Amino acid sequence: MAVLSTRSSSPSPGGGITSAFAITKAKIFLVVSLIITWWFASLLPHYKPAIKAHFSAQLNSAIQKIPSIKVDWEVDTDPLDMYNISKVALLIEPRPLPHLVPHILYMIGVVPPDWRFLFIGSEKSVAGVAEAAAIRHQQVAGKLDLMVLPEPWDIGTKEGVYRTLTDIRFYDEFMPTAEWILKYEADSILCANSEMSVDEWLHWDFVGAPRRADDHFAGNGGLSLRRASAIRRVLSFQNRLNDTEPEDEWFGKRVYVLPGAKTAKGVEEAFTVEDVYFENSMGFHIRDGGNGINAAVWEDPDQRKKIFNYCPEISLIMDMKLERERCKGDNKKGSIIAG
Ligand SMILES: *[C@@H]1O[C@H](CO)[C@@H](O)[C@H](O)[C@H]1NC(C)=O
Ligand SMILES: *[C@@H]1O[C@H](CO)[C@@H](O)[C@H](O)[C@H]1NC(C)=O
Repeated sequence: MAVLSTRSSSPSPGGGITSAFAITKAKIFLVVSLIITWWFASLLPHYKPAIKAHFSAQLNSAIQKIPSIKVDWEVDTDPLDMYNISKVALLIEPRPLPHLVPHILYMIGVVPPDWRFLFIGSEKSVAGVAEAAAIRHQQVAGKLDLMVLPEPWDIGTKEGVYRTLTDIRFYDEFMPTAEWILKYEADSILCANSEMSVDEWLHWDFVGAPRRADDHFAGNGGLSLRRASAIRRVLSFQNRLNDTEPEDEWFGKRVYVLPGAKTAKGVEEAFTVEDVYFENSMGFHIRDGGNGINAAVWEDPDQRKKIFNYCPEISLIMDMKLERERCKGDNKKGSIIAG
């Protein structure tokens, strides 16, 4: 206000246009106060790129940087110090699914705070995820990395993902610091109601879901925790043949017989539910978002109700219909009773 009124109320000798350039007390005051403001600002923390480039060149080129925002309070600590870089939650998903953003944010919320998150996607799925401000916030905070793997890596198909996960170069180049890998998928989820923390499972080398109640190895990998050292030991003397079994089955057979490796067995030691139901699991893998699920877990309406009460977050990842969309004669067990 002061500046505006100065120009009109005290015309300079030149008048007209030149008056705008005339030196007045108010202008001197303005300049001095600007200089003081800048000087003060220079004393405050300022912005710097968030994450130090201390990984490999491959890794750095794969990480999707955030071009439009650079927000990192320059404090004396590296933002990565807040996290334990040996704990990485990994999601690989090439499809730009609409629920990826809430899913990733939810998982960030339930996994202990020192875990870092890595999302490896296609150009499309990474671009879709990166659009969300809440995701960019997590990137800036050093919590989450988004990556598109360079050629010739290919995660476009399931087989491509299996090949990636069974290639030791993947761990060397893109997750060099990881020791614990929480591998989850777009159709698997941890339950916030679980009384156990992921950190209580760190002593296992490979733990997932059992395929049968008496399974000698609970290693179904859609939602599983693996130790990179065990993975590396297997990969140091074994190669997966292309177009053979899925990576979790392949690893399972090998980690199970690896000397000294700790693998979980049966329902008692299982991490998650996929084909066998048990109470108080850490989470669920809903195969194909509900299209490949097992009747033993999902057929019984009472059991289903129990599951949804315990883990309502399943609705994030599972295709569902409203109760009122039921067909007439639906017996709630997947078939229609005539009449
Ligand atoms: C990371 O977590 C592991 C397992 O809890 C722990 O042994 C290790 O000391 C932690 N590292 C750091 C740097 O805190
Ligand atoms: C398996 O696939 C990879 C590419 O994903 C290829 O480089 C490799 O040669 C294949 N191995 C065999 C034995 O065909």
